[in-house]
Amino acid sequence: MLLRTVVQGEDHFLQTIPNGGFRASGGSGTFALEMSTVKEIKRTTVTAALPYANGPLHIGHIAGAYLPADIYVRCLRLRGKEVLFVCGSDEHGAAITLRALKENTTPKAIVDKYHAIMGKAFKDFGIAFDIYHRTSSALHRKTSQDFFLQLHANGAFIEQEELQYYDEEAKQFLADRYIKGACPVCGNTDAYGDQCEKCGTALSPKELKDVRSTLSGSAPVLKPTSHWYLPMERSQQWVEEWINTGTLDGVQQHLANEWKPQVLGQCNSWLKDGLRPRAMTRDLDWGVPVPLPGADGKVLYVWLDAPIGYISATKEWAKDQAVKDPGSSPEWEKWWKSDETRLLHFIGKDNIVFHCIIFPILLKMHGGYILPQNVPANEFLNLEGEKLSTSRNWAVWLHEYIERWPDRQDELRYALTSIMPEFKDSEFTWKDFQDKNNNELVSILGNFVQRVFVLCHKYYEGKVPQPAHSSVEAGEQDTLLWADLNPLPAKVAEEVDRFRFREAMASAMHVARLGNKYLTDTEPWKLEKTDPERVRTVLYNGLRIVGALSVVLDPFLPFTATKLRTMLGIGTLPWDDAFRADLLVPGASLGKPEHLFKPIDDAAIAAEVERLHANRPKEDVPNTRVAAKPIKPMITFDDFSKLDLRIGVIRTAEVVPKADKLLKLTVDIGEAEPRTVVSGIAQHFDPEELPGTEVLFLANLEPRKMRGVESQGMVLMTEDAEGKLTFMRPARPVPAGSEVR
Ligand code: MF3
Ligand code: ZN
Repeated sequence: MLLRTVVQGEDHFLQTIPNGGFRASGGSGTFALEMSTVKEIKRTTVTAALPYANGPLHIGHIAGAYLPADIYVRCLRLRGKEVLFVCGSDEHGAAITLRALKENTTPKAIVDKYHAIMGKAFKDFGIAFDIYHRTSSALHRKTSQDFFLQLHANGAFIEQEELQYYDEEAKQFLADRYIKGACPVCGNTDAYGDQCEKCGTALSPKELKDVRSTLSGSAPVLKPTSHWYLPMERSQQWVEEWINTGTLDGVQQHLANEWKPQVLGQCNSWLKDGLRPRAMTRDLDWGVPVPLPGADGKVLYVWLDAPIGYISATKEWAKDQAVKDPGSSPEWEKWWKSDETRLLHFIGKDNIVFHCIIFPILLKMHGGYILPQNVPANEFLNLEGEKLSTSRNWAVWLHEYIERWPDRQDELRYALTSIMPEFKDSEFTWKDFQDKNNNELVSILGNFVQRVFVLCHKYYEGKVPQPAHSSVEAGEQDTLLWADLNPLPAKVAEEVDRFRFREAMASAMHVARLGNKYLTDTEPWKLEKTDPERVRTVLYNGLRIVGALSVVLDPFLPFTATKLRTMLGIGTLPWDDAFRADLLVPGASLGKPEHLFKPIDDAAIAAEVERLHANRPKEDVPNTRVAAKPIKPMITFDDFSKLDLRIGVIRTAEVVPKADKLLKLTVDIGEAEPRTVVSGIAQHFDPEELPGTEVLFLANLEPRKMRGVESQGMVLMTEDAEGKLTFMRPARPVPAGSEVR
């Protein structure tokens, strides 16, 4: 909990300490504090995960890290807080080099391409970074090398020679995503050398079974190589205490119950296994060179250099600032090294251990840096019933959305915020996007603003009316209205402070709901003939509510908030002035009533869904034939019609324990319950890739038990020239259960 209080007439955030470490003094609104245990916060450094520059951004990235960070930052700025928002492209690591191999080009070409696409998409979408930097810059190289050298000088590393997997064909050591194998925890046969993406376990290559190189597919050999390891076990104790009690070196940094339970959970499951040494260097030619003699051909581990990217971004920003505004005090260090600064990392859940354990250890071993005060990680977003997937092109790409829906950024921001995966995975559907637009943005927000403006134009030639002075807040309806409205800005701010963005946006929208209710209750359109003075008051109040909306909606819907200000002829207001009584001057001219939002019709939504399906990769049709086997004996049409063939959709897929060929699938064929089938395809497919795949399904095959599981039908397959099995999917998407005739 953060308390807002008044210290020497200034607004500050104070962090509380557990068990009544502060007391309210005599109802005066100030607090008596035990200063030794309370850290005073003057400014906030907000980081959003540096996205890999190996592909464009999709709505999962946005809902996971960038939109919540942006809302948070915008809200702080409006409240007059000092805040810095940094991000940039993560341009090193296997994610980049493997993409370059795939696109048959250089890593440099890849990062240049995607850095530009991502930077533009963020900007177009209104993500208001103070700087969007990149880790391939010279400044970053120097910053991360200096950081490494300081760690080295502090004795933070152990240099050690060890046997590592080596690909003799590709002539390369294999770490991280260069090596795949079976996960020792869940059996997933496609676990990477650093992490199993199925069960989330962090791994090292030697823990994998049946390893293979992702470069050549061959089985690697072991070869000695030496690296700098971070002996994380030495930090086990303080990390455990810091995360779970918030105490670091005797100072209260945060309260454990301010951290999301799933973040604490992931950290503690890692800590429970015991921290282990982790190599901080790699044998690669793409990355930041290790700045030590005898380290030729070695670069920094990408998870060492990338988070330092937050720091180099801050330095670059400070440099730019000094050029733009010589009078500014742009020292970068106060954003990273001052006790009065709060550091927050916005990330997705796959980044938790790196931001909550490894990077804090590095910062502390380096010395001089503050640690994050919170890491409000989000869970994952799904899309139309399936996991978002770059490789299967199952995604809504941000830059494409912006092209197809120009000037509709706020509509997507609204839909994504309303389903933000704050505490558990959630799902985006185009239908929900349409509903939120039509039933909330158009009907509630747009409608309210429209009604107020149309009436002001009709009755007062587009000028702010003069309210009956004594009755602005006099009538009972008005008193009730202000009683409901006045607390809302503080409520929104408080919910944003606690990273409850869904609730916060709902509270902001409540201002519009109350505005609508007020108009419906007062019916100014009926009163104009009999009581024009009352109508002037009502519409004056209506305009004040529009003014407040331009403030409280700004963090969520910045484009709309700007339009509202233009319509009202006002500038940006500080948060606390949302309901300032003298905001609007009677007689001042108003802008034209604008339709803020347009309804979205069913056809546009159907087109988006169709597009998703149509854009899945189509395998190229090869120009080859197999030696035809003799055709089986003739059957009658009756024989054929006995087969009940359907199109099914695989919903789940898992390995059958102790059976290396079998997968257990559930297939939706339009019945109340999906069918369970056991299929001998485990060696051909990664179970994770299967959900959502359409298949040709034989629905009336006698059930049969395999390994204790009843198989209720059969998935029909064919094989390619190499003998690899493949499904038969309809050429266009069809509903699950469609008959095949
Ligand atoms: N590039 C990483 C990812 O996309 C995130 C890096 S965050 C940073 O998962 F802290 F390392 F920068
Ligand atoms: Zn696993």
